[in-house]
Amino acid sequence: MAVEFPHRHLLEIRPLSEEDIWTILKTARNLKEVLKRPIPKVPTLRGKVVANLFFEPSTRTRLSFERAAKTLSAEVLNFSARGSSLEKGENLLDTVKNVEALGADLFVLRHPASGAPHFIARHVKGGVINAGDGFHEHPTQALLDLLTVLEAKGGFRGLKVAIIGDIRHSRVAHSDILAFRKMGAEVFVSGPGTLLPPEREALGARVCYRLESALESAEVVIALRVQKERHGRALFPGFHEYARYFGLTRKNLELTSPTAILMHPGPINWGVELAGELMDFPRQVILDQVENGVAVRMALLLLLLKSGETAP
Ligand code: CP
Repeated sequence: MAVEFPHRHLLEIRPLSEEDIWTILKTARNLKEVLKRPIPKVPTLRGKVVANLFFEPSTRTRLSFERAAKTLSAEVLNFSARGSSLEKGENLLDTVKNVEALGADLFVLRHPASGAPHFIARHVKGGVINAGDGFHEHPTQALLDLLTVLEAKGGFRGLKVAIIGDIRHSRVAHSDILAFRKMGAEVFVSGPGTLLPPEREALGARVCYRLESALESAEVVIALRVQKERHGRALFPGFHEYARYFGLTRKNLELTSPTAILMHPGPINWGVELAGELMDFPRQVILDQVENGVAVRMALLLLLLKSGETAP
């Protein structure tokens, strides 16, 4: 099978065509089969080195990139800011250039500064995957969200997707809005007014100041964590008020389609954006998202590292 993908990096959703996204989703669906084998390992990326560079905390993204790379037999270099020479004053570019000198072919970068992966992409020979940059984008999260919706709903066109929470500061919201709209879904966003973008900056999503308008007949509901660490000042009275007016409950989810699925990128603040009673909500697919994260990241590693070659 020849691997064809017309990109060297994955920095954001915008440059991906609908066809590129279908390529990623179909590749991920094929690779899911590998993860279910008794010995989930293939030699596809033997000899390649993937560097996971995390300058911000992560559980799902970091571990799933590691699992994805190891399943494809790549070597993995894991870097966390804490305990590194950053603490002795080394800067981002020097850090990355040193990891490149250690043999990295591809860099997975999470960084608190929006645009950091774009900057690094201009200075390294290998590809760069944005694993979340400031409040700009988290494109691999959007792609795994698409895969999860595809599996649950069979397609995207005309689907009502409601994204609830801190839209303004969420890189997941930005990538999800762009990705779901590109695939033909209708996106509605809702949350406290101070956490919503103005309509003209909502990337084509419909802004709803009333939660009910966003939830009504939605087929997909994505709850987001309040990004307190990115606010700088108090933007709403407190978590108690947030939960009261914008927290999702069994009651307000009754407004959605009876077949609606509930998603969350994690980490979840139970009792804030999701009521504790939703832990056993039958149509929540939050761990499916995590599982799909491995397959989507395997697909991206394969497409970016093997494009132009024949995959075994
Ligand atoms: N969804 C997500 O990015 O989770 P982590 O911060 O744990 O990677």
